[in-house]
Amino acid sequence: TTITWDPEMAEKGGYEHFMIKEIYEEPQVIKDTLSEAEKIKEIVSKFKNFNRICFVACGTSYHASLIGEYLIESQIGIPTEVILASEFEYFQKTLDKHTLVIFITQSGETADTIKALKIAKKKSETLAIVNVVGSSITREADHVIYTRAGPEISVAATKTYISQLICIYLLVAYLGENEKLLDNLYKISRLSEKILSREEQIREIAKKYKFARDFFYIGRGFNYPTALEGALKLKEITYIHGEGYPAGELKHGPLALIEDNIPVVGILPPGPSYRKTYNNLQEIKARGADMIILGANNDTHLDDIEDKLLFDPEIDEVLSPLLYIIDLQLLAYYISIEKGIDPDKPKNLAKSVTVE
Ligand code: AGP
Repeated sequence: TTITWDPEMAEKGGYEHFMIKEIYEEPQVIKDTLSEAEKIKEIVSKFKNFNRICFVACGTSYHASLIGEYLIESQIGIPTEVILASEFEYFQKTLDKHTLVIFITQSGETADTIKALKIAKKKSETLAIVNVVGSSITREADHVIYTRAGPEISVAATKTYISQLICIYLLVAYLGENEKLLDNLYKISRLSEKILSREEQIREIAKKYKFARDFFYIGRGFNYPTALEGALKLKEITYIHGEGYPAGELKHGPLALIEDNIPVVGILPPGPSYRKTYNNLQEIKARGADMIILGANNDTHLDDIEDKLLFDPEIDEVLSPLLYIIDLQLLAYYISIEKGIDPDKPKNLAKSVTVE
């Protein structure tokens, strides 16, 4: 007998694609990144005086940065902004020594981000949150936090996004001396395992909507970036047009595009923004859209919704970005599989973008 040995299959550890393997690694990645807590605490203690924070990143790392902005503004109250790395050079005039500039990048090799770091370090203190150890960015920044997600092979970022978020939440917890936020983070890794057990349900939703031409992803506050990231995953690996939108902004234009049977993913965790988001989603539903709702499992308003992905109500809107996105990664993955696309190698895209 001969044993056929496929090295690529071995690397995938029995999974069909790197992307799904990397999604399944997320609960462990959350634990590994949390074990960096002490190092992050130490870095925070070394920061000089700053009165403004500026995040710089591209793509998925940009979406993680946006969540950082919502967190810092709401939990600590330091003025914060997020700038796309490719647009950064047009904003350099207001940088000064009281601005902390945070660069987020999985690869540490993204040309736009490297260029922006070179500009920023002339005037401001810089911190890089990076996955790849020893990458170019890590040699340029004043401080480096590693995301510890391990190598990510699939072009679509999944586990590294989760680990970027964990680093940001830790950073905010230490900057704001917020013990409660810190405690809550340790709950997250346990709760993340539950989500991965509903693969079958997500597969069914993927089958139902694989022929859709457009998708909307709607969220408010902390989950506006989740909506953007869900839509980006869809675009990258299914080639379906997906648009992430802030729930309250639809009535200012895009509502005109809502028609019968257009799939709309609504992100509706419990918390202060619940009521308004719920009302916005009702308006969309009334115009005939097919709703896919992510919300709490004790929410009786969702009883008549056919496609829903339910979470522990302990996961409120502040924590929800860490876990709700996992379902949206899985949804994009299974739509890609249903369409016969290789999610690991989407057309026209490279894992790290080394040109400006
Ligand atoms: C994510 O799925 C994309 N492949 C892409 O948007 C990526 O996040 C972006 O190119 C930034 O990469 P970086 O984190 O390595 O800088």
